[in-house]
Amino acid sequence: MSMQQGPMDLDQLRGSVAVVTGAGNHGIGWGLCCYAAGDLGMHIVLMDLHEKLVRAAEQRLRELYPGVQCHGLVCDVTSPAQLSAAVAQIGDVLPGKTIGAVFANAGVIFSHTIMKSTVQEWETTLRVNVMGVVNTMHAFIPLLQAQQSESIFSATASIGGLVRGDNGGASYQASKHAVVATCESLSFELARKSPQIRVHVLCPCIVASALDKTSAINQQVQDGAVSAQELEALGAGEFSLAMTPERHAVQVFDHIRAGNFYMVTDNVRPYVDHDLPFAGLAITRERHENIQQLTLDNSDAWQRRPGRAPSAIMKGPMFGEPEPVSES
Ligand SMILES: NC(=O)c1ccc[n+]([C@@H]2O[C@H](COP(=O)([O-])OP(=O)(O)OC[C@H]3O[C@@H](n4cnc5c(N)ncnc54)[C@H](O)[C@@H]3O)[C@@H](O)[C@H]2O)c1
Repeated sequence: MSMQQGPMDLDQLRGSVAVVTGAGNHGIGWGLCCYAAGDLGMHIVLMDLHEKLVRAAEQRLRELYPGVQCHGLVCDVTSPAQLSAAVAQIGDVLPGKTIGAVFANAGVIFSHTIMKSTVQEWETTLRVNVMGVVNTMHAFIPLLQAQQSESIFSATASIGGLVRGDNGGASYQASKHAVVATCESLSFELARKSPQIRVHVLCPCIVASALDKTSAINQQVQDGAVSAQELEALGAGEFSLAMTPERHAVQVFDHIRAGNFYMVTDNVRPYVDHDLPFAGLAITRERHENIQQLTLDNSDAWQRRPGRAPSAIMKGPMFGEPEPVSES
């Protein structure tokens, strides 16, 4: 009997291809592309929804990393047909190259209470965040299975996929809990058959990005209210305690190197320059303890803090509270 995951020598990825979905804005996916190209010498296939954003990101990558090949593909991960076409295009532009890593990272968020969120927001969230990951598995896992060499398959969930449901987080968290369970299942299903594929689930805490804005704008494009030709890449955001996508990517690959399945990327040194973590694992532990006791502790709903909505998640040192005390 063995565990599927173990430490990985990342040097073996040099010259192989990293595929990253949802990397056209300056968010988590972009950071992963930069690390894979710059530190690991991987060729890059970056995917996102809109031609203009994809071309701009492709050009930036080519300027930054002239030693590797970088290609941008327009691909909507909710479409199995577009993903199949993307797989074929990768074979055309990077013939004979091994796929070393696939990051199913595209996602959306609509932060409204259950009663105020629309059916359309729920459907988009589940279609992109859950079916987008499943479709990416369907498209790429057979390729990775056909290879003898080791490869990585990672889907981006969230710390929100590990903790208790929060105020205004239901559609997002339901989708991210589904991503965590789906990655656990994939790991189980491949463990004996295809042990060369290393499955991970990425659970970031707070990374500087414009996820809320890209989600809203993509919805407006789909509704015909905004033209995709007018879009500029969005990124960063104003929260100064967030990790940059580039520093975040260092933490992701440190997890992969260490063989960690649950890649919780907290806001801790050396990945940030402050001592106010999100405390994701401590908040995750609260949920697990609740489950053991068959109890849902909702006491955070009464914690009224000036200028903040009550939250069961955003309450650690990063948000002005002491780190939750663990019993272990
Ligand atoms: N930023 C954070 O703090 C944080 C925390 C936890 C999890 N996440 C997750 O990280 C992932 C990346 O988000 P981000 O924060 O970097 O924001 P981002 O907006 O930079 O990335 C999301 C990208 O997905 C793209 N996208 C949306 N729908 C798509 C579709 N149907 N097909 C292809 N691409 C699509 C968007 O255009 C966007 O570029 C998401 O899955 C998000 O849920 C982010």
